[in-house]
Amino acid sequence: MESGRVAAAGPAMSDLDSICQSLLSQRSLILASNRGPVEHNVAPDGRPDARRGSGGIVTALNSLAQTAPFTWIASAMGEGDRLVAGSHQDSPYKSPLPGHKIDLRYVVTPRRVYHKYYNVLCNPLLWFLQHYMWNPPYNPNVDASVHDAWNGGYIPVNRAFAQEVVQQARNNEMPPVVIGHDYHLYLLPGMVREELPESIIQHYVHIPWPTPRYWQMIPTYMSRQICSSLASADVVGFQTEQDRESFLDSVESFVPDATVDRASCVVHRDDISSHARVYPLSINVDEVQRIANSPRALEHEENLMSMRRGASTIVRIDRAEPNKNVVRGFKAFELLLNRFPDLQGKVSFLAFLVPSRTHIRQYQRYMDEIRQLVNQINDRFGTEDWQPITTFMENNYTQAIAGMKLYDVLLVNSLIEGMNLVAKEGPVVNTRDGVLVLSETSGAYEQLRDGAIPVSPTDVEGTMEALYAAITMSGEERKRRATTLAESVNRQDIMHWICRQLEDLCNVCQAQTEENTLD
Ligand code: G6P
Repeated sequence: MESGRVAAAGPAMSDLDSICQSLLSQRSLILASNRGPVEHNVAPDGRPDARRGSGGIVTALNSLAQTAPFTWIASAMGEGDRLVAGSHQDSPYKSPLPGHKIDLRYVVTPRRVYHKYYNVLCNPLLWFLQHYMWNPPYNPNVDASVHDAWNGGYIPVNRAFAQEVVQQARNNEMPPVVIGHDYHLYLLPGMVREELPESIIQHYVHIPWPTPRYWQMIPTYMSRQICSSLASADVVGFQTEQDRESFLDSVESFVPDATVDRASCVVHRDDISSHARVYPLSINVDEVQRIANSPRALEHEENLMSMRRGASTIVRIDRAEPNKNVVRGFKAFELLLNRFPDLQGKVSFLAFLVPSRTHIRQYQRYMDEIRQLVNQINDRFGTEDWQPITTFMENNYTQAIAGMKLYDVLLVNSLIEGMNLVAKEGPVVNTRDGVLVLSETSGAYEQLRDGAIPVSPTDVEGTMEALYAAITMSGEERKRRATTLAESVNRQDIMHWICRQLEDLCNVCQAQTEENTLD
């Protein structure tokens, strides 16, 4: 069946085009993120081989890269990127991806410095902190290596990005708009502001923002520098209202010379007004539906159909990361088979798990735990012609989209999470009025609560009950919920996300121009 029940209803490509034209008539645009839109492998002949970068930021900003000319600065993450960076030190490198209008710049930092930044500070410390993933009586232990990773990894990499931004800005006649992304680059706004006071700066935080109580778990100087830097951006974007509130609380706690206007969500300090805004990340509905209907996806779909057995299929799609709560999801499924033996042989679970951050110990352990539990469940309940759980441990987006087309139940039971785009992709490609079981602590819950069955992520019993309710739900109710979800995603797709941010930046530009005229 063709997937895609409702056409996208938000702003169109032409709206994005005109907003970009208005912004770029006054400013140059520079974007910075740790992971860039193009990654390079080293081919057997020693040359760099370009392919689209992985990860949500790249997907989210692809339409912008196809609409506007700007410079995208990213880390050289592997040897191929380093080669490209070396051969384009003084010349622009046009993105080789079809349709892209952008120039790429790679920030090269010594491997040891990058290791401290990425593998000690960004992921084990900030990512775990912001996802509330610690067990405070035991971890983390902020020892000398963490302080060293701040000073010898996080600061130098942020500084290197700032230098590249400044250099690119100085190559342009027009003053820049600088947009930074995520927890890797929290110090960038402050560093750029010092060098280029006239720039307009936005920083978007993709992951949850915890309360100041939790930020106090790490050394105060780190939290203070992070909050102080972000408060020097003109706009700081968050996924949800809750994240924004916690950010404003954090600024009040850690930046004593800032004044927070709670009604307008603006932080005032020196002569800067920093607007905290909520822009829930979304998906490119047209693009996802195009992939879902591609010959490749149809092939995968056929293959998956032949694998599933029984009346119902539960699907999950995640990066294999501890905060996705994969283990509890399987435990809930095990409980379901145990509690309702009639369902044995009638429900199949297809899990598409993309290996992630495989160098980090906690991630390796989590993968092992997943494998063990899957084997245990399959050994216990499996029969000759029915395997309860089938896992696909690879990075195959088209196959995962094909999986979304045929779910009866989509399980998204993540622990605290910034947004979760799978919860948005599923409803716009699914062809079976599938039911979404959604964690109340995922960012997506704020927008999708009306159509989803809610679960608390640690409630294994409750998750089992939610799966049962989804499997046994009437056709009419399934349809009603599926339509509600698809409409909600269509109303606020990725264009909506980008256009609202650029409109806000145009307004900041306008305000600055008026101020300069009055001066
Ligand atoms: C997820 C998060 C993003 C984050 C990215 C980093 O996609 O949603 O906010 O920037 O992970 O992933 P990486 O693979 O680059 O460590």
